[in-house]
Amino acid sequence: MAEEGTLRPYIAIDTFSGFVDAHVAHEVAARGKTTQGKFYKSIFSDNSQLWFDTTMRHEGITNVRSVAADITRFDFDTAGPIAFCLLDVDLYLPIKDTLPKIFAQLSSGGIIVVDDCQPNSVWDGALQAYQEFCAEQGMSIEIHQKKLGVIRKAA
Ligand SMILES: C[S@@+](CC[C@H](N)C(=O)[O-])C[C@H]1O[C@@H](n2cnc3c(N)ncnc32)[C@H](O)[C@@H]1O
Repeated sequence: MAEEGTLRPYIAIDTFSGFVDAHVAHEVAARGKTTQGKFYKSIFSDNSQLWFDTTMRHEGITNVRSVAADITRFDFDTAGPIAFCLLDVDLYLPIKDTLPKIFAQLSSGGIIVVDDCQPNSVWDGALQAYQEFCAEQGMSIEIHQKKLGVIRKAA
């Protein structure tokens, strides 16, 4: 966005401490990821909001606001209208929960990109949540680069 000269407000939401325990438990108990539980609990746990904000300042980027939160608890009604959203939280439950909330705030012509929509992978909960949302909305599946699930709101 900075390189393109886009100065629209951008909200970056992350727990900054990795996955939520209940979301990991669902992958293990309901989605058969029995051997990946420890991996999910350790990865991304050393993230830091301070590092993120410092990097933005260092790069002279002033239109990004970081929010430390579980996205399933974030009030998306305060964030709209949304032109573009990269939804990159990897697991089934947080994507299943938030896609309808984000879509409700999406502008006409807006786009959501769901990362990691790959079958038979450690992140395939993203694909399941994406496919279910498209089916519920009667939308076509549109996956680019073998992993980027696209959702569009008609202009
Ligand atoms: C693959 S990383 C992507 C981060 C960022 N998009 C990037 O490319 O640097 C997944 C991120 O999702 C965050 N995350 C996982 N579950 C979350 C949740 N329920 N709410 C907010 N953030 C979450 C993790 O902390 C991790 O930083």
